[in-house]
Amino acid sequence: MFYSDELIEEVRSRSDIVDVIGSYVNLKHKGNSYSACCPFHHEKTPSFHVSREKQMYHCFGCGVGGNVFTFLMEHENMTFPEAVEELAGKAGVALPERSMSKDEQKRADERTKIKEMNKIAAGYFHYLLKTDHGTAALAYLTNRGLTDETITKFGLGYSDKFSDDLYKYLKSKGYKDEEMIKAGLIKVDEKYGPSDRFWNRVMYPIIDPNNRVIGFGGRVMGEGTPKYINSQDTPVFDKSRNLYGLNLAKKSKRKGIIFCEGYMDVISMHQAGFDNAVASLGTALTVGQVNLIKRYTDRVYLAYDSDEAGTKATLRALQIMREFDMPARVISLKPYKDPDELIQNDGKEAFEKRIEEAVSGIMFEIDILEHNYNQNDPQERTEFQKEAAKCLSKIMDPLERDNYIKSVSEKYNIDSKTLKETVTAYGAAGAGKVDTSIFRPPERRGSPEEEKEKQQLKTERVLITWLINDNELIPVIKEILTPEDFTDTVYNGVVRLIYEQYDAKGKVEPAVIMNHFESKEEHEKVSSIMQQDFGVEIMSDEKSGAITDLVKRIKRKSIQKKIDSAGSDFNLIKELMVEKKSIEKIKINVQ
Ligand code: CTP
Ligand code: MN
Repeated sequence: MFYSDELIEEVRSRSDIVDVIGSYVNLKHKGNSYSACCPFHHEKTPSFHVSREKQMYHCFGCGVGGNVFTFLMEHENMTFPEAVEELAGKAGVALPERSMSKDEQKRADERTKIKEMNKIAAGYFHYLLKTDHGTAALAYLTNRGLTDETITKFGLGYSDKFSDDLYKYLKSKGYKDEEMIKAGLIKVDEKYGPSDRFWNRVMYPIIDPNNRVIGFGGRVMGEGTPKYINSQDTPVFDKSRNLYGLNLAKKSKRKGIIFCEGYMDVISMHQAGFDNAVASLGTALTVGQVNLIKRYTDRVYLAYDSDEAGTKATLRALQIMREFDMPARVISLKPYKDPDELIQNDGKEAFEKRIEEAVSGIMFEIDILEHNYNQNDPQERTEFQKEAAKCLSKIMDPLERDNYIKSVSEKYNIDSKTLKETVTAYGAAGAGKVDTSIFRPPERRGSPEEEKEKQQLKTERVLITWLINDNELIPVIKEILTPEDFTDTVYNGVVRLIYEQYDAKGKVEPAVIMNHFESKEEHEKVSSIMQQDFGVEIMSDEKSGAITDLVKRIKRKSIQKKIDSAGSDFNLIKELMVEKKSIEKIKINVQ
């Protein structure tokens, strides 16, 4: 560790977890808990919980969990020291200068080198485009209507017909084969050796919001497959957390961000003045991308292709946007395939008009629904109206819901009172209903030994949860169980820390315990103990009985383990047998 435990603890205690996580995730306040749809996995009902009291978070759906530091490590891809520094900066805690560890230094160097190589490659491709070698590529781009200014702004380029010119060029600059491979610029064939990943293609550098080249897309000129080749994920490039064009869109003065599918769509829109356009990188919209965009805007427009795949992608994106409370409107491109085609054919004024006419996500969904039913058939029309009502019942805000009910009843000629009643009926049926299936991991029965061990771990876990939720129990339990009585090494570390904290402060601070564990697995394990709440009031005699039972089971197992490993030390075995017998006398009384 680079910083002292005290300093780390100071930073942690000054960084309220609800504020920190709340700045990345839209938390809903309920009682003394805050919840949201988990930013680490895709879900419809919120199972991600943040506790101000415990200063911890936990997702009952996917099991992630930890304290403020682990949140930044997972969510923002930071190392532990980086997370400490980030929060120290915000909390105004001064940190001493630190030098990086060897491992960290190595990774940082590697990332720096990849970015350098990418920058060199982008410069090289761009240079080639303007030479004799790039004549055809330049003509291709010009024919697609791109101006010189646009080509420069996006740093477009050309990868030569030779299959190893970039390789030789980077080699001449002193880069090693492994480094170039790691950067995704070079691939190696067993028979033919190293060669360029991209050749004879128009090149689109992918630039992040900090203006660094992180990857490339390369398009064939004209027909041919594959149409695009893209960089694979590298230490500096994670497709699911980046958006093409965001480096420029983040500076735009226009309202919102326009999402589209392709590189060419982004470029075309920017050239026409819609400089708030971005594209997801050849994948469906991801949670990471929505998280990213939330830092820059509070509304989005979807301008996906107008074909079936594009419509599907739109519906999917709308669902994710709704889960993140991000208002979304859909731009219709019909009869054209994509924004590029629309702008090429009808011009920028026409596109501006399409933006103004963009419909809200709900209206788009209901529109799609309408086409799925034969409106002349009374039964099908009823089905459609019911589905529409279901859709409307998902709107949480009552005023907004009313406004939509009005619009839908007008647009589709449905009696507004009846529609409202139906919506309310669906709302009432759905309200308060939580999909609990996510709380239960799929059952898998192991061998009897495995089952026994699982049961033992559960016993230990439950007792620790009691200790954390009811600190008065600690001095009682401490008399009977040592940390070593817990078979699981993580649990046994947690118990040791609980005892230490109780001795020092008279209470337990869960988030401090977390500071002592490093790996993701450990964090998840620890946070799952901390977040378990029994949620029911238990009578004190029931509680005494339950705890006595847990303690006995843990002690029995612990002594049995010692007996098993005592070998032929009969004196020891005798002692242990006596101790084992005395377990039966244990009786714990709690209030
Ligand atoms: N894409 C990809 N690989 C492919 C096809 C598409 O990675 N073989 C990704 C690219 O990011 C592309 C986007 O999906 O920009 C949209 O694909 P498509 O609509 O086919 O291409 P356009 O961007 O419209 O390209 P163009 O206008 O040059 O045909
Ligand atoms: Mn296109």
